[in-house]
Amino acid sequence: MERKRLLYLVSSDPLVSPFDVNMAYDAGFDAVIPYASIDASMVPGLVQDIMFSRGAKGARFSSLFFSSSRVAVAETMLKAARGSLFPPFLLGLMVDPKGGYTTAAALWARVAALGRARGVGQPGRLKVVVAAGTGTVGRAAAAIAGRDGAAVTLTSRNLASAAEAAEEIAALFGVTVVPRAAPGEKELSVLAAGADVVLATGAAGVQLLSRAAIATLKGPKVIADVNAVPPHGLEAVRPQDSGTEVAPGVFALGAMAIGDLKFKIESALLKDLLTAETPPVIDLESARRRALDLLEMKST
Ligand SMILES: NC(=O)c1ccc[n+]([C@@H]2O[C@H](COP(=O)([O-])OP(=O)(O)OC[C@H]3O[C@@H](n4cnc5c(N)ncnc54)[C@H](OP(=O)(O)O)[C@@H]3O)[C@@H](O)[C@H]2O)c1
Repeated sequence: MERKRLLYLVSSDPLVSPFDVNMAYDAGFDAVIPYASIDASMVPGLVQDIMFSRGAKGARFSSLFFSSSRVAVAETMLKAARGSLFPPFLLGLMVDPKGGYTTAAALWARVAALGRARGVGQPGRLKVVVAAGTGTVGRAAAAIAGRDGAAVTLTSRNLASAAEAAEEIAALFGVTVVPRAAPGEKELSVLAAGADVVLATGAAGVQLLSRAAIATLKGPKVIADVNAVPPHGLEAVRPQDSGTEVAPGVFALGAMAIGDLKFKIESALLKDLLTAETPPVIDLESARRRALDLLEMKST
């Protein structure tokens, strides 16, 4: 009898995102089972019931995907699952808190490629501002950019939140970022003026910089916005922009251009859960590497 390929979508949030459900079905899973409002203490029991009900062979056809609007919570759930596995019962595991890892991986891969192409600089030499960076996308983007050697400043409307995010990024990913308060456009404009790259990672439908503020920026610079919901994070940047010059020497990436790569990364990683010979553990680093692979494949 052929085994059904199952994905358990486990979230600490009350709502499991239909985005991930749809992506998983489209990647080829036979069934996607959502578990909402889960905390890390429930994960070992969940893992054991999945393992033992399907036997060693069946375990290979069962995977878990962890999500949360809080990066640390998703990572703690992943850690709890890893700690509960033992041979021969091995399950595929993936973590992508509220889509933040795959989105940040797409964002940074596209920004780094555009920065190189337009002479803004090599990733490791860039000064990067992650604006409104306290969400899952901002934290992950700051971690990936910092890991590449960029000097990263992460903003929030209040310093305490920026500092909390910086501490979490250091603890989880070993990356140092500088926390700064940017309560409004005025403060963010000053930080943007001094940066090579601005990553707008604010909440959906929240404008961070107006067209007028963006017009004052001087190149060479890359500005990128992940917010696809109007009003966008950067007013002068359209969702489909992919290297458009929006001010002299200021090159823009919009949410759809980034989202297109995010979609491909998540799809490829979900397929890895189904096909990898050894059940994989898919995390932020996996998303980062897959983003680079997909961009290189596109350019060759
Ligand atoms: N393009 C894609 O493929 C894709 C995929 C996934 C997500 N997204 C988008 O990525 C963005 C980030 O997602 P996320 O889940 O990480 O974001 P989030 O947690 O919803 O928001 C990020 C931060 O925005 C700030 N913020 C909220 N309301 C604000 C306001 N009125 N004014 C100024 N700042 C405000 C908050 O920071 P403070 O409270 O610390 O100031 C918050 O922590 C969203 O726009 C989302 O739609 C895009």
